[in-house]
Formats: sequence, structure tokens, C-alpha cells
Amino acid sequence: MNWFDVAAADSLAPGQCRTVEVRGHRLALINIDGQFHALDDRCPHRGAPLGAGYLDGTRLFCPLHGWEFDARTGACTTRPELPVARHPVTVENGRVLVELAL
Ligand code: FES
Repeated sequence: MNWFDVAAADSLAPGQCRTVEVRGHRLALINIDGQFHALDDRCPHRGAPLGAGYLDGTRLFCPLHGWEFDARTGACTTRPELPVARHPVTVENGRVLVELAL
């Protein structure tokens, strides 16, 4: 496991999410009330980028067909058997770091 610098902490305001890429691996980076979270970006339905989704509190909605996820855990509310992976996140010196097995 390694930590990867994915973004400046001040580049993503609370209540926002976006897709970031680490060595070809796409992540949905999410800021909920100043706490960062990172999920695999690929929706288990048809692969849409969850980082382009709509965030409502802790609920993240896929931009394509609206499947709902818990943005903190990756749990899928719409289809509980199809969660997305979450990854540890920390902030150091104003940078967001994500731990990945790359
Ligand atoms: S691709 Fe995400 S809900 Fe269909």
C-alpha cells in the first residue's frame, strides 16, 4: 500500500466531489464538511464516473442513472450487493493523500 498525492485540499470545497486519477486508477474524491473521502470512481451499474455525480450531504448519486451511494463508505443504497471500494484518506500540508495498493 502506498500514499498518493491526489489534490490540493483547497481545490475541493465542502459539498463537492470530482474525479481524480492516480496512475490510471480513477477515484471519486469527496469533501463532506471538510472531511475527505475517496471511492472507486466507476459506478458498478454501467461505469459512469461517480466523481461527476451529485452530492447531497453524505449521499452520492451517480450522474447517469442516479444509483445512490454512501459517500463515506461506498455502500450502495440502490443495490446493496454492489458497493464501491473506499480508500483511506489523509490531509498533510494542505494536500489530500489517498492510500492505494498500486
Ligand atoms: S451508470 Fe451509475 S447508475 Fe447507471
